[in-house]
Amino acid sequence: MKRCWWKEGVVYQIYPRSFYDSNGDGIGDLRGIIEKLDYLKRLGINIIWLNPVYKSPNQDNGYDISDYQDIMDEFGTLADWEELLAKLHQRGIKLIMDLVVNHTSDEHAWFVESRSSNDNPHRDYYIWRKGKNGNPPNNWASFFQGSAWKYDPRTNEYFLHLFADKQPDLNWENETVRQEVYNMMTWWLEKGIDGFRMDVINLISKVPGLPDVETKKDGPVPAERYFANGPKVHDYLQEMHREVLSKYDIFTVGETPCVNVEDGYLYSGEDRRELQMIFQFEHMGLDQGEEGYWSPREWKLTELKQIMSKWQTGLYGRGWNSLYLNNHDQPRLVSRFGNDREYRVESAKMLGTMLHTLQGTPYIYQGEEIGLTNVAFDDIHDYNDVWAINFYHEALKAGKPKEEILALLHDKGRDNARTPIPWDDSPNGGFTTGVPWLKLNPNYPVINVKQALADEHSVFYYYQKLIKLRKEHLVIVYGDYTLLLGDDEQIWAYVRRLDQDGLLVILNFFEQEVDCILPKEVQYKTANLLLSNYAVSTPEQIDAIHLRPYEARVYKLQFP
Ligand code: GLC
Ligand code: CA
Repeated sequence: MKRCWWKEGVVYQIYPRSFYDSNGDGIGDLRGIIEKLDYLKRLGINIIWLNPVYKSPNQDNGYDISDYQDIMDEFGTLADWEELLAKLHQRGIKLIMDLVVNHTSDEHAWFVESRSSNDNPHRDYYIWRKGKNGNPPNNWASFFQGSAWKYDPRTNEYFLHLFADKQPDLNWENETVRQEVYNMMTWWLEKGIDGFRMDVINLISKVPGLPDVETKKDGPVPAERYFANGPKVHDYLQEMHREVLSKYDIFTVGETPCVNVEDGYLYSGEDRRELQMIFQFEHMGLDQGEEGYWSPREWKLTELKQIMSKWQTGLYGRGWNSLYLNNHDQPRLVSRFGNDREYRVESAKMLGTMLHTLQGTPYIYQGEEIGLTNVAFDDIHDYNDVWAINFYHEALKAGKPKEEILALLHDKGRDNARTPIPWDDSPNGGFTTGVPWLKLNPNYPVINVKQALADEHSVFYYYQKLIKLRKEHLVIVYGDYTLLLGDDEQIWAYVRRLDQDGLLVILNFFEQEVDCILPKEVQYKTANLLLSNYAVSTPEQIDAIHLRPYEARVYKLQFP
């Protein structure tokens, strides 16, 4: 397998609005990031993914971009950004930028032109259609509730928006649109960035004719099959690769909902000349019930193992995995997959062990490294996310009790991940001297960066060790993957192997203690404990290991 810096690296994701506020206006900013670079260096990461920092009216916090080539006023200036890039590079940290080109803001100059008349030269930059008897052109639902179409009285037509109504979808069929995007990408690459994270990049090609989908009851229904992995998406990405990406030593990761392993290969295959890796979503759907995103579902460990193992073996030597359990769109991993009460630290470390010892590039979302938890606000006014607010009002109208809706926001809302980083136990966690744009998690006096740095047993120092291990053991990056005890509902165990080097990982996913009996097929010469989230008295037989609540063990194996 070809060795690459982006396979060997660890990415840290920064949501700038919530990272650190340098000027007291309550909003995190670029200078705030610059002030915290030594903290990131200390953690040991070597790539940063920055969520959108471009000009935006912020209906969807920067994912509605009104100018791709300038910085949002609240975040600073292009000069601040240049300084950030230079200071990252001085410290040996790479920077990848968010590329949001499935849609723009409705305040982008292209859309302002486009909506002004039917024959404007920019009209065809977006997807406009006539209504059908006073109804939208088709029955597609927006990801953020309601119809995916918005009526515009000026020209008596509707425009398509798969996300919020201020996020009109670009028309990728239009070659000029594609050229504009490629030029914009080149402009950023020439500034010296190291790659892109591409927002919902597999949604850019819609099925011609934009057909209706079968209706459920009478509301809009998810229409993914008419726009996810659409007919021309691979042509577009190969064109983008030819015209832009192939000219630089960079890496790209595509955010790709609704993909299976074969799609994953098509996007990330080494021979495909498209992207280098993707974010697949299968495991994020595990706790989602039949009624869609907001409906809960009980999940079993065997299901999680089955999904993750399939991706591990399915892309091995062909494409490349990303490893994540949270980001700015997902609840906090320790609340969702671990135990954010009495075993917060143990379970956060156990989940981190998994993310940093599977095959693929691990992503750490800000705050994950100190074990931040979900937040439960009891008033909808304390929430910010456009999706959460749309859902709240829709569900309220449909007769769902307020407390039930708030409980769903607590479990699944995107604001869980977006509460500002608590740097210490001073007011507002030292995030800002002003009024924060979103309240902090009220547990900040207990869970904060200062506390984590002062405690040698904190999640922070454990993550530091995980990152270090990756640099020391190539088997973590390039080894293959074999699942052990596949039917076990409590333990996830696997072996990674690269020639004679091996890694054995054993994870107790629950609070109950359990004995792990190693299957006979694991034939090794020596086994040495590399890391655990508990004190382990050595030497210990590894053929039968007693695991405490959420215990994780990582052994280095030598094969005969
Ligand atoms: C992606 C982003 C999310 C955003 C959406 C629309 O899923 O991660 O934050 O709301 O795309 O751009
Ligand atoms: Ca600020």
